Amino acid sequence: MKLDNAMKLLLSLFFFITCSNYNVYCQDVKTENCVPLKAEDFQKNINGKMVGLYFLKNGRISMAITNYGGRIVSLCAPDKDGKMADVVVGFKSIDDYLKATGVYHGAIIGRVAGRISNGKIDVNGTNYSLQQNAGNHHLHGGLNGFHNQVWEVKSSTETSLVLTYLSKDGEMGYPGNVQIEVSYQLNPKNELQIEYKATTDKSTPLNLTNHAFFNLAGEASGTIYNHLLTIHADYICPINEDKMAIAKNYTIIGTPFDFRNEKPMGKDLVLQDSNQQLKLAGGYDHHYILNKKKKQEMSLAAIVVEPNSGRKMEVFTLEPCIHLFSANFFKGTDIGKLGKPINYRESFALETQRYPYSVDKKVFPSNILNPTDKYHTKTIYRFSVVE
Ligand code: BGC
Repeated sequence: MKLDNAMKLLLSLFFFITCSNYNVYCQDVKTENCVPLKAEDFQKNINGKMVGLYFLKNGRISMAITNYGGRIVSLCAPDKDGKMADVVVGFKSIDDYLKATGVYHGAIIGRVAGRISNGKIDVNGTNYSLQQNAGNHHLHGGLNGFHNQVWEVKSSTETSLVLTYLSKDGEMGYPGNVQIEVSYQLNPKNELQIEYKATTDKSTPLNLTNHAFFNLAGEASGTIYNHLLTIHADYICPINEDKMAIAKNYTIIGTPFDFRNEKPMGKDLVLQDSNQQLKLAGGYDHHYILNKKKKQEMSLAAIVVEPNSGRKMEVFTLEPCIHLFSANFFKGTDIGKLGKPINYRESFALETQRYPYSVDKKVFPSNILNPTDKYHTKTIYRFSVVE
């Protein structure tokens, strides 16, 4: 064999090994994928269904999603100098997800995001008891909510992933067979769009969201206190001792919840002992009611800027609310994909969603999906940099 042919063979062998070990898109590994996740570390049969890892890339953004809970495992975005970092907290393997104490990282949440008091729902006059996984209460769809289900992969391309799941009648106590489709799409404008669609054969509450925890300086790079946050909202839903939303008329003006103008996320967290709402939640863990000119309007809900890296994330949504959670419960017991502990207040979640569920129909607008309805909503996360 001639020397140059031998060289070519050696090179292709090298690329084959590198690509198959790290990523389906070999080029990303060399240039832009900031975390070398291995697809095979996510391959596992759970309850007869195959889990895997899917890589998406468009514009300057690349990401990895597993069909276990439809979880965003990683999202790489450039800083002001073009340096990539993974801005979503996640784990390096399916086994790490299965053993983690934090169970919602990056996941699709359903049937109902948030808490339901005593797990009791009333659907058009019929009472149902839901699985109680937060003391006596029901949280984020219950123990085996959508975050812990293996979703079917309907389609997968270089820029998109479409997942479906059939939630059977009675699952976690909810009525009706609900067919859900969630699609993730990256566009050349560095935007991630998540679209949710669902239908049901019996009336059921439905309120879907994604529970990604972000740190725009990168996973495991310290607290989120310096992140500058703006939320286009004048009211939050105050909570009680059980962290249950109880009303929708708490004016935020002049309170630690006021993010109408850009403010460091940590600035008023120091008031946790004197502000009753911060104290009850142990930080931010509240629904913001978004200012909308009309219902179902795609509007800019929140902007987050990390000043050192210059990374900026804008959240647009059709949903009426956004839930701000300042990662108040992490204790460093779980080890993230970069080998570092997932610590208290080192990430935040901004979960777009409906109003909280309440049996008292006068408190919040209904989030019941009827068999004649089509559930359809969209949220866009746009990534860019400020100078
Ligand atoms: C809830 C928190 C909960 C957390 C779990 C948030 O959406 O509001 O109370 O502990 O999710 O990650």
